[in-house]
Amino acid sequence: MKGEIYLKIVALVGSNRKESFNRKLAVYMQNRYQTTVEIEILPIDKLPMYNQDDELTPPEIVTEIKKKVAESDGVLFVTPEYNHSIPAFLKNAIDWFSRVDKVMVNKPVMIVGSSPGVLGTARAQMHLRQILNSPGISALTLPGNEVFIGAVHEKLDESGKLVHEPTVQFMDTVMDNYIKWIKKQSL
Ligand code: FNR
Repeated sequence: MKGEIYLKIVALVGSNRKESFNRKLAVYMQNRYQTTVEIEILPIDKLPMYNQDDELTPPEIVTEIKKKVAESDGVLFVTPEYNHSIPAFLKNAIDWFSRVDKVMVNKPVMIVGSSPGVLGTARAQMHLRQILNSPGISALTLPGNEVFIGAVHEKLDESGKLVHEPTVQFMDTVMDNYIKWIKKQSL
């Protein structure tokens, strides 16, 4: 943690497609909140498939990404829903994080999800919360705050900026809650 106020957050984006709405949201958050938090989007789409045979001598990229998670003040998930759950490569990253040096233990987590549909990833986020509560992960999830962004294609402009004012205000409130909660945890 830098000084008293500046937090270092790592973001895990659950989509690997170029025009991903969720990636655009993560980038939007990076820019909007840059005066209070640094948000680094980690390249989890580059992680190899988890294999227990390799966990003690993992490829370099696994070690690098796990180190960034371990050193962060919090982890932000920004994910779509795939078939009522989280995308496989996001689960793959979580599986790497859950083994050997368990880098997610007690890590403060905020979850954001968006979809063009109406439910805004509600089912995937329920799964994600269940996964994050497993013994190897044992993350702390921000209580009382849920961000389900439905009809996301109507809420971002051409450049990927969030322009739907009620959602902007809501995201600001949740991010503020997240930052205050992290600071409370580290007292
Ligand atoms: C989807 N989509 C989807 N949407 C949803 O609301 N519930 C679901 O269960 C699924 N399942 C699903 C599976 C797969 C394999 C794909 C490719 C898509 C639609 C999804 O919300 C939409 O494609 C989003 O735009 C994906 O997020 P990104 O890539 O834009 O961030």
